Amino acid sequence: MEVIALIAIVSSVILGALIAFIAFGSYFNKRKSEVVSIANPNELNSKNSRPQQTKKSQSKPHHHSHADKDSNKRHHPLDLNTLKGHGDSVNGLCFSSDGHSLATACDDGVIRVFKLDDASSKSFKFLRINLPAAGGHPTAVAFVDDSSSIAVASQNLTGASLYMYGEDKPKGGDTKQQSKPEIKWEHHNVHDKKYILTLFGTKATHGSADGSTIIASSSEGTDIILWHGKSGKMLGNVDTNQLKNNMATLSPNGRFIAAAAFTADVKVWEIVYSKDSSVKEVTKVMQLKGHKSAVTWLCFTPDSERIITASKDGSIRVWNINVRYQLDEDPKTLKVFPIPLLDSKGTTLQYDRLSISPDGKILAATHGSLLQWLSAETGEVLETADKAHDGDITDIAWAPKPIPVGDKRVTILATSSVDKKVKLWAAPTL
Ligand SMILES: *[C@@H]1O[C@H](CO)[C@@H](O)[C@H](O)[C@H]1NC(C)=O
Repeated sequence: MEVIALIAIVSSVILGALIAFIAFGSYFNKRKSEVVSIANPNELNSKNSRPQQTKKSQSKPHHHSHADKDSNKRHHPLDLNTLKGHGDSVNGLCFSSDGHSLATACDDGVIRVFKLDDASSKSFKFLRINLPAAGGHPTAVAFVDDSSSIAVASQNLTGASLYMYGEDKPKGGDTKQQSKPEIKWEHHNVHDKKYILTLFGTKATHGSADGSTIIASSSEGTDIILWHGKSGKMLGNVDTNQLKNNMATLSPNGRFIAAAAFTADVKVWEIVYSKDSSVKEVTKVMQLKGHKSAVTWLCFTPDSERIITASKDGSIRVWNINVRYQLDEDPKTLKVFPIPLLDSKGTTLQYDRLSISPDGKILAATHGSLLQWLSAETGEVLETADKAHDGDITDIAWAPKPIPVGDKRVTILATSSVDKKVKLWAAPTL
């Protein structure tokens, strides 16, 4: 009797789970297929927005390794190249300040530092850094000072760690002989058990700062920690008090920290440097009020005077933060653009990532596997790659300086994805 009842219960549980599984599966499939972008990329491509290097890349296909299963996929005209060799999902990437090195954080436990001497190369040399076995998965990377030092965030079951790898430069200018990067400093359980969502580094040049790299790590909780890149010294920490962080970044001059979090307002802190260029204090100075829902991502403009935010409320806002906050002057919204992405029901979709080009003119933004370029001035869509990757895009970054492509120099955006690839894209023409 009891056995029969038990079998009946177990089989109804299994049946229930199966139904739920099928229902959810089709729900998620449906959601994925519902993305509709407003601007038709085909229309745009046929107009004047063709990049200079398109001709070359079409007449001489450099996607040699595309002879695999993606060879029949339509090739987007801005798609320049793919960096292969990643064994798993790529979680984050970062360019060195000279633009010639691109570091990636991969779930296979390896940091790769690619040399981008020519973005159209058939293959790229890369330096391989294996994280310590106990270190877990690297989640984010940031260069420190120059391309020979790199900070890495990683996650294992115990918590988040930070490692800084540095190379001792070979003496006597012998550039052929490359030394192996070694761990220069490491910190464990830096955000308790919490995951490090973002790691941003910049050379602090504001006020009496001496130009050394500072790094902000943001956890999935509410804390943000500021680090000195070379020494690993903790310089300060702040709490957003906004339930959950989405990300945090630094102004390019190292003066401000800004965070996007679960609630709509964006908090901005100022890093105050002492005469000896150490950090005196980190204090909250501004709050950007205007969005009606969570800010998913934000970026500073290259001049450190504006912040661009993308929100779940369906809008992008450009804020002027060059205000006298000491006199309680609030940052003003300079522009509001609707996010030009709708699902099939006409609901505006959110951007997951946002990054502005080094000249401050083009905004790159992502939603799932879609990549879009907008005019930062007007919000107009310049180009869309509907399926930039075969899975969600995890990170985007512009090279700080143009990179050689054949005999030209091209402004380049890099994207990483769960599809184990990193792609390089040429900037659309304005
Ligand atoms: C996580 O990493 C830390 C630092 O390397 C290490 O001490 C700890 O044992 C690791 N935990 C696991 C579960 O591997």
